[in-house]
Amino acid sequence: MQKKAILDLDTGIDDALALAYALGSPELEVIGVTTTYGNVLLETGAANDLALLELFGAPEVPVYLGEPHAQTKDGFEVLEISAFIHGQNGIGEVELAKAAAAAQPGAVDFLISSVKEHGDDLVIIATGPMTNLSAAIAKDETFADNAHIVIMGGALTVPGNVSPWAEANINQDPDAANDLFRSGAEVTMIGLDVTLQTLLTKKHTAQWRELGTPAAIALADMTDYYIKAYDTTAPHLGGCGLHDPLAVGVAVDPSLVTLLPINLKVDVEGETRGRTIGDEVRLNDQVRTSRAAVAVDVDRFLNEFMTRIGRVAAAN
Ligand code: RIB
Ligand code: CA
Repeated sequence: MQKKAILDLDTGIDDALALAYALGSPELEVIGVTTTYGNVLLETGAANDLALLELFGAPEVPVYLGEPHAQTKDGFEVLEISAFIHGQNGIGEVELAKAAAAAQPGAVDFLISSVKEHGDDLVIIATGPMTNLSAAIAKDETFADNAHIVIMGGALTVPGNVSPWAEANINQDPDAANDLFRSGAEVTMIGLDVTLQTLLTKKHTAQWRELGTPAAIALADMTDYYIKAYDTTAPHLGGCGLHDPLAVGVAVDPSLVTLLPINLKVDVEGETRGRTIGDEVRLNDQVRTSRAAVAVDVDRFLNEFMTRIGRVAAAN
């Protein structure tokens, strides 16, 4: 059965790829995009989402503005490393036509009402900081018990990517991610443990370029920018990490990864602030509300990725 999906994005190049993956997946009906800050400011991310939805042939999908910064902070500034990896505009300095549609306020309310309306038929895929999800949990006491969430974030068995402990999405708002893990919501964590194994190279993007459509060229250009940044920041990998698309891949087909049932928490104090780790307080609970991906079928995922992105790229 087709599942309804909401993507909570800080768009970002790999968020853009995640959006294309979702739109290219017949198993998912994307009912909305909620926006968060992270790779870019909230408004820039929303403008990117709107432009990408139009480019990918889905201008009817509504975009909702979320929280502009962590609740524990007064504001948000894009980190230098984020701008280096994703470009100043978040999509590798690729210029897209401004969308005709506008973003609406109310991401948190949209998340809450969608969970109420669709329950088990809905998956929320969050690929930026968890601030909107934490706000939804705080605002509606039924949200956590009924939400099914796949996140890109965290690092359980490998070091972080912004500090030895912290992965970028968790690092932006460790308190929000901790709220999420401890809320009892069903959370599947797709962290660096697996996303740094799924790598894309210019050989792959050349296949899109050959398609010659506007969407294919834009996707190839922005992803080549991302690959180039990875060549500098992580030359040992030999490609760019498909972080956010893997979260969508798992929402469609959880068998792409091996999932460890575990009650997670995030360290919110001291020098390990931002670390995702097992919650010692709930170690012996029979119920495990989170699952962390610890292995991935790389070849099968890359094949799915190229097929689904290719579908959107070829048609638009
Ligand atoms: O650590 C990788 C994550 O941080 C991805 O979601 C990327 O888009 C950035 O937000
Ligand atoms: Ca992201």
